[in-house]
Amino acid sequence: MSSLDRHTDYGSTPFTEAGIGRDPFAVFADWLRAAEEAEVYEPNALVVSTVDQDARPSSRTVLLKGFDAQGFDFVTNYRSRKGRALLANPAVSLLFPWYSLRRQVIISGDAHPAEPNVSDAYFDARPRESKLASIASDQSEPIASRDLLEQRMRDLLERYPEGSQIPRPEKWGAFRVTPRTIEFWQGRSARFHDRLRFTAAAGGGWTLERLQP
Ligand SMILES: Cc1cc2nc3c(=O)[nH]c(=O)nc-3n(C[C@H](O)[C@H](O)[C@H](O)COP(=O)(O)O)c2cc1C
Repeated sequence: MSSLDRHTDYGSTPFTEAGIGRDPFAVFADWLRAAEEAEVYEPNALVVSTVDQDARPSSRTVLLKGFDAQGFDFVTNYRSRKGRALLANPAVSLLFPWYSLRRQVIISGDAHPAEPNVSDAYFDARPRESKLASIASDQSEPIASRDLLEQRMRDLLERYPEGSQIPRPEKWGAFRVTPRTIEFWQGRSARFHDRLRFTAAAGGGWTLERLQP
């Protein structure tokens, strides 16, 4: 049967208000761990949606590199399509698509460049060739051929021999997303899913609401 005609049942794992506390970061940490334990491919992959200066939305996948009560971090090229959109308009949506667990998490918030020392630490942790790739690529810009890119890489491999210090290019760094809402979605039978949404309260802390499926 074509996937278009299937009606897959999403199971009976409930996700309820009982016992989840009021800290969405703790719930997120639990769900990320569950995705790792279930061996979801790239469990830290998420879809980032941005809106540019002309109010045009766009989406792409990136990898989560860190999170704590201050926010969610991903790294990218600040001059890429997403980088330019976010520098002009910090409104952002993050979506973690954990389909094999019948789960998704949707975060709405604002993205700002992280402090330079935070970006430096993420850059330092990259393997040498990934560092060089982030220097070589003017991400999102057209280029005439793959060969030109490979030539840039060969030049960089020569300029920065094994063991040499590779400086983080200014164009590359982390965005930190400060969440306003964090929704946890658990698939249930007959499309009667569980949706619990945390909203940041004005005076600190979070409110919790159940949304209809
Ligand atoms: C699994 C996966 C992980 C990715 N991780 C990143 C990432 O962490 N940072 C990044 O800039 N692009 C990452 N990409 C590439 C982006 O999806 C995208 O092609 C690139 O960032 C350019 O997007 P833009 O032109 O909308 O700015 C990843 C793609 C996939 C499929």
